[in-house]
Amino acid sequence: MRKVSLWLMIMLCGSLIWAQSEGSDEIGDDFYPGIGNGGYDVQHYDLDLEVDLSRGSINAVAQIGIIATQDLSAFNLDFNGFTIESVRIDGVEVDYRRAQAELTLIPNELIESEQTFEVTIAYQGIPPNSQNPTFAEGWVQYRRGIYVASEPAGARNWYPVNDHPLDKATYTIKITVPEPYVAASNGLLVDTQDHENDTRSYVWENFEPTASYLVTVQIAEFEMQSYYTEDGLLIRNFFPVDIAEDAEITFSQTDEMIAYFETVFGPYPFEVYGAVVVNTSLSFALETQTLSMFGRDIVVEQSGRRTGNQGIIAHELTHQWFGNSISPATWRDIWLNEGFATYGELLWVEHTLGVSDRDEMISNWYASLNTPDFIQSPIAAPGLPPGNEIYNLFNASVYLRGALTLHALRLNVGDAAFFRILRTYAARYAYGNATTEDFIQVAQEISGMNLQSFFQGWLYEKKLPPIPQMGL
Ligand code: TRP
Ligand code: ZN
Repeated sequence: MRKVSLWLMIMLCGSLIWAQSEGSDEIGDDFYPGIGNGGYDVQHYDLDLEVDLSRGSINAVAQIGIIATQDLSAFNLDFNGFTIESVRIDGVEVDYRRAQAELTLIPNELIESEQTFEVTIAYQGIPPNSQNPTFAEGWVQYRRGIYVASEPAGARNWYPVNDHPLDKATYTIKITVPEPYVAASNGLLVDTQDHENDTRSYVWENFEPTASYLVTVQIAEFEMQSYYTEDGLLIRNFFPVDIAEDAEITFSQTDEMIAYFETVFGPYPFEVYGAVVVNTSLSFALETQTLSMFGRDIVVEQSGRRTGNQGIIAHELTHQWFGNSISPATWRDIWLNEGFATYGELLWVEHTLGVSDRDEMISNWYASLNTPDFIQSPIAAPGLPPGNEIYNLFNASVYLRGALTLHALRLNVGDAAFFRILRTYAARYAYGNATTEDFIQVAQEISGMNLQSFFQGWLYEKKLPPIPQMGL
């Protein structure tokens, strides 16, 4: 009797420990419950994608190199749609469950904390449609090709992933497409392979840690143009063949822009840069890492913005430092991406057109925010974006008020301290993540000023603060 209950106790305890070592099904982002996962750290994704453009489907194998950060009896990846053919851990088939975008893997034996292991998932099917009503999130097929734009959480719509910028990883992406399509992705093209059935594989290697929303696949009839900047940085652009000449002109200031931004932000953080022009018009651009994407309209139409298209080009380039090298620790910190990238537009105007053009833009933006019917939103405060709606994450305040915050900071601390703040912040958090508090900390440290009430007003309160130095 006594023996039995002892055994029972041991078994109960054992199963309790087993049950308690499931990795969390979310990473703890208060804007996005359910996003990301806990209990492990992805090191590398190796994606092998065969693309069937006539069916609109992909046939894929994802190999994911992971380190456990706790004992794992089970853990989750974010993954939406598709038919899963097999799930293996270190080559051995394992059980799994699926519920909406959560894929739970159940290893045959407990994975111990700090253990390295490899997950291999074979899957196929037509990528699911984006659930986001404002932007496409994920894999999108259009008439003349395919693009992937995943910010903030659409990577799960095309591969199994820890879908949060806190878990960055490196990538190898092999894309097989029928001729005459060309497949581009982040990083460097390290290999191409021709196959007998008139398909070609493109193997892309992305060596720097990358947030999942910044990973892209671009398929169209592209012309690739590449060159080295004076400083020896490789630039490779992908343009639709029929507008390649005009696109070359549109993007001809890229090397100048990089050289200028290096003087204000510090060294360009990656080993390659370029633009891909999607062969359809888009109402947005995205700073996909090392290969910013733009719609066809950037070449064939002038945008309505004051700076023309160079403003958007400067914006996506600035994101390579702010957003890509340093990514937000939570989605609430999104102004650290968009406010900075929008400030990059102002800096480019200042550099090319002068201070008075810059100040005119600032005054216009200030006026557009400073109207009674504009829904003022504190850009870094807790709580959901305006209208209590997560899809308003990319609202105008995050962009414009974010940029004005930086300009107001510059006017308060002076140019020398301001640019030292930007460079220190860019260097200190390179290839990682930062919070709004981290930035405030750097600003105070470098300026030697107490900036608590300054940032309180600009970032956490509804009312738009004045910019007295500009009479605003
Ligand atoms: N970050 C983009 C920009 O440069 C905007 C954006 C947000 C986006 N989510 C997106 C673009 C999804 C494409 C797809 O401002
Ligand atoms: Zn942006």
